[in-house]
Amino acid sequence: MKGIVLAGGNGTRLHPLTHAVSKQILPVYNKPMIYYPLSVLMLGGIKEILVISTPHHLDMFRALLGDGSRLGISMAYAEQPEANGIAEAFVIGAEFIGADSVALVLGDNIFHGPGFSRILHREVSRIDGCVLFGYPVKDPERYGVGTVDEEGRLLSLREKPVDSTSNLAITGLYLYDNDVVDIAKNVMPSARGELEITDVNRVYLERGKARLVSLGRGFAWLDTGTHESLLQAGQYVQLLELRQGVRIACLEEIAFRMGFIDAGACYELGEEMRHTEYGKYLMEITADSG
Ligand code: G1P
Repeated sequence: MKGIVLAGGNGTRLHPLTHAVSKQILPVYNKPMIYYPLSVLMLGGIKEILVISTPHHLDMFRALLGDGSRLGISMAYAEQPEANGIAEAFVIGAEFIGADSVALVLGDNIFHGPGFSRILHREVSRIDGCVLFGYPVKDPERYGVGTVDEEGRLLSLREKPVDSTSNLAITGLYLYDNDVVDIAKNVMPSARGELEITDVNRVYLERGKARLVSLGRGFAWLDTGTHESLLQAGQYVQLLELRQGVRIACLEEIAFRMGFIDAGACYELGEEMRHTEYGKYLMEITADSG
């Protein structure tokens, strides 16, 4: 399976923070925001990843992540010149996806929870149709919202309904078989002129090929859309990291634990940042096995 991180948009709700830099480069505690969605793809075992961003911002991601080889993965980059909707990622990324299945994660979505890697592996390995991830929220009108049956089959789907009876938000992580490329090429732009991801998902729903995995209450799916929620996301990460002495979305560690790089390579990445707690952590977790 290939992976796409969509890191577009102008981040207008975060001005002036995002006047000069991409929203998805902003810090969430001790790492750039895009580390969090990238970690999700890597935890799913995905090693070929395309970052899509505005022409204006793409070079920042190139500077940050390069060709991915330091993490034992392969990074590619593509432009989304206009904010034409999430589903345009599959049109822009068609060549990159080729005949493969694909995971899409939004560059500002932060997931954290027990057993997430195991859930991702299971879903990635048996993809047939589409898999969405649902999360209970108190303000469903801000999101795509779904209902499911007991087996996790998606029964209905609406985008930002004003009168939702379901509180199950559809998160910004989506897994698809290869049909998604054709489906995305054929959906009509919505009233706001965008290729909506919910319209793509609705095609799968109508084909009886859409499943939803519910992320339970022990999970964190965090928002970074406002100054308050951005700070709160950072505080959440800080709290857990300091309390437990572990790292959330530490890409170097994940690359090591997933077997993408060996202990020696991970240690060296830590050594480059040895003046930070982040770097020291990488050196500590690899010192014994190096
Ligand atoms: C988009 C999707 C929505 C989804 C949300 C998750 O909304 O359209 O279905 O629930 O991402 O972050 P947007 O953030 O573009 O308003």
